[in-house]
Amino acid sequence: GDHKLPRGRFPWFSVDGKTHKPYMIGIGGGSASGKTSVANHIIKKLGVPWVVLLQMDSFYKSLSKAEIEQAYANNYNFDHPNSFDFDVLFETLKNLKSGVKVDVPIYDFGTHSRANIIIFEGIFALYDPKVRDLMDLMLFVDTDSDVRLARRLKRDIAERGRDIHGVLQQYKKYVKPAFDDYILPTMKHADVIVPRGSDNVAAINVIMQHITRELDARDLSLRSQLLQLRYPAQKP
Ligand code: ADP
Ligand code: C5P
Repeated sequence: GDHKLPRGRFPWFSVDGKTHKPYMIGIGGGSASGKTSVANHIIKKLGVPWVVLLQMDSFYKSLSKAEIEQAYANNYNFDHPNSFDFDVLFETLKNLKSGVKVDVPIYDFGTHSRANIIIFEGIFALYDPKVRDLMDLMLFVDTDSDVRLARRLKRDIAERGRDIHGVLQQYKKYVKPAFDDYILPTMKHADVIVPRGSDNVAAINVIMQHITRELDARDLSLRSQLLQLRYPAQKP
């Protein structure tokens, strides 16, 4: 069927005169812990088209020429909170939550700006208090460091054109200290900690039950959305 929402409408729906803001889920955790995989599992299980996945990567500050050279030499710190533009990140999430159209670097969100479920994942997803305040649910993917390093080695060599020496150097110098100093401490903000990531079927099922109940309570579930599409509210 055609799942397209009526044009020009805000991402939340009005049911019986009540408006409902989009439901926002934050997923934090160390590099290569499985944040993206968990997000994609949730999206698949939700089975609705009006979900957006925002990634922390989109909010790196732009690099100067010198910094780009440092990055190529594995000498740029991509794992420090200062490497991210938290102002732009907060504005973007805030606007998405209030139904204002957003532009996200790299990704074209033009067609997805009306989503009413927003998932934000990244190493510092649970770091900023203002960002945390926007979240309806916060998850932390807790995967052992050795597993994360093994996955990262494999991924960065296979997909990011890195070599083993460079990955290990960057891991030791930046990735591991950042996890210990900044990322692990954000675990205490999580509503649910997901050991092992997307392998953890039981945890994801429990999370899905919670999300489904919350969406139902807000009339954001597929069932109530379909009713809206079938019997749309009168245009003003
Ligand atoms: P993150 O978003 O936290 O960096 P990803 O979900 O992108 O983590 O996973 C990092 C890497 O590990 C990817 O290459 C992915 O394919 C792999 N990976 C993730 N989860 C699993 C898993 N349960 N089993 C095996 N490999 C996995
Ligand atoms: O997907 P993941 O959570 O692993 O992404 C975060 C990681 O990406 C950081 O640990 C950072 O070191 C790495 N990164 C990188 N090169 C970039 C941008 C990010 O290695 N250009």
